[in-house]
This record gives sequence, C-alpha cells and structure tokens, in this order.
Amino acid sequence: MLKARIAVLVSGGGTNLQALIDAEKSGIIKSGEIRLVVANNSRAYALTRAELAGIPAECIIKKECGSQEAFENRLIELLDSNGIELIVLAGFMSILSEKFTGHYKNRIINIHPSLIPSFCGKGFYGLHVHEAALEYGVKVTGATVHFVNEIPDGGKIIMQKAVDILPDDTPETLQKRVMEQAEWIILPKATELLSAEIIKSREKS
Ligand code: GRF
Repeated sequence: MLKARIAVLVSGGGTNLQALIDAEKSGIIKSGEIRLVVANNSRAYALTRAELAGIPAECIIKKECGSQEAFENRLIELLDSNGIELIVLAGFMSILSEKFTGHYKNRIINIHPSLIPSFCGKGFYGLHVHEAALEYGVKVTGATVHFVNEIPDGGKIIMQKAVDILPDDTPETLQKRVMEQAEWIILPKATELLSAEIIKSREKS
C-alpha cells in the first residue's frame, strides 16, 4: 500500500509537528507518511524537529518572494513536485488565498486551539485565543481540526476535543493544557483519518 504523501506547514515551535512525527513512529498514523515540512520562517524550531526526524524541510519566506501570489506559487510548485496529497497546517501563521485553498480542496487541514465556532477567525491566534476564552468566562474550551478554505478557521469541522478550564488558569497554563489534552491527540488522529480516505479514493479511481 502506497501511503498518502503528507506535507506539514509550520511557522514556530512545532510541537504539533512533533506530535505528528511521534504518531507516525508509534503507528497512530499508518496510512500516511510525512514527506515534507515547509516553514515560512527560517527561525522556526520546527525545522530542527524535521531535520532530527530525517524529514526533508524547506523554508519559503513571503518577503523574499515579493508578493502573496508569488509565495503561494512557490509553495504550490514545491508541494506538487513532491506529489503531496494532504497538507497539514500545524501552527502555520500565514493566511492562504482562495486560489491556493481551491487548488487543494478538502486536502488542507488546520488545528485551531478552541472549540470552533468560538474564539476563531481573524486575530484569534496563539495566546489571544486563550485570553479571550478566559475573559469570556467559558468553563470548557478545546481544540478543533478543520478543513481549510478561504475563510480563516471557516472550513468544515473534522474533529474536536473539549478541555476543562480550571479556576486558576492563565492564558499560558490553558494553552499548555489544550495542547497536551487536545491538539496533540486530535491532529494525528485526523491526519490518519484523512490519509486513509485518500488511499481509499485512490482505489476507487
Ligand atoms: C498551536 O496552538 C496551534 O493550535 C496553533 O498554533 C500553535 C502552534 O504551536 N494553530 P506549535 O508550533 O505546534 O508548537
């Protein structure tokens, strides 16, 4: 069986990338294979994680490309020349255009650190998401894996996991708990689910 070819797009620390690498090693991801890591920031520690795992990694910097369109064209070229079938956004801090998301319809997924449709969309990234949840006073938050379309955090939901908010939580403690109890679990699970579907759809065609 030829595994689904996965690319993971990153910008930062890459703990979700690490969860995917570990899940492939442990067999939680068995239908897909991480073939490529792409960062839009040369200082992303995720690049080191890729290197340590022996996964080819590339860096494409928007500023150097000159425009969003040129940046996305280089990205498409890289992904297509590697035969990538599933794109996982794991802390990728760049909004992608309709042209890009349309090119990979239902083939791009993202992890967001809240229960969508709460605390999502423009401006809700990183610690801001957890600050907003604490400020609102919700007692339960979590993480969501969803398909990516032209609307930020607006694509169909694939998987969610709830996490309790504790009375003494700060944005930092909440961020850590959401990662440990939700993100690092559902992102690999959703990646396996989609990889298995890609293999099945190959068999049909
Ligand atoms: C995570 O909280 C993820 O939900 C969000 O960006 C963060 C990335 O963290 N989209 P890391 O780079 O995977 O450690």
